[in-house]
Amino acid sequence: MKAKTEVDRQALVEAAVAARERAYAPYSGYAVGAALLAESGTIYAGCNVENAVYPLSMCAERAAVFQAVCGGEQRFEAIAVVTENGGTPCGSCRQVLREFGEEIVVLIADTDGHWRETTVGDLLPDSFSAADLG
Ligand code: THU
Repeated sequence: MKAKTEVDRQALVEAAVAARERAYAPYSGYAVGAALLAESGTIYAGCNVENAVYPLSMCAERAAVFQAVCGGEQRFEAIAVVTENGGTPCGSCRQVLREFGEEIVVLIADTDGHWRETTVGDLLPDSFSAADLG
């Protein structure tokens, strides 16, 4: 199991950049790539996939989470998200990530190679979780 200090941030951002190149975003023109590092060490990629029925579009971060869970993973170290301008994960993606832990590191990057680091808990404070269901 990898500790957070061992997360190769550069590699994770580069994986998200590669995922972003596969985005299908003909309507917004806003390509997003995500790379989610599981505790197993495997990186799961996601990109946004839009649809002519706009609400059916899927964000990159959630695509990565669903891909990872379907691959048998439920414990995650970090996620990198890359957009042209360093946009942050939307509320829906924050909630989906929070399901798997507030400590997950979030790297928010742009295509110039700049990024900042935060956590799911910092992005979504006082969140609703399984604990609230009793
Ligand atoms: N998008 C993401 O993929 N992740 C986010 O966290 C924010 C928004 C996508 C959805 C849509 O395809 C495009 O960016 C514009 O909203």
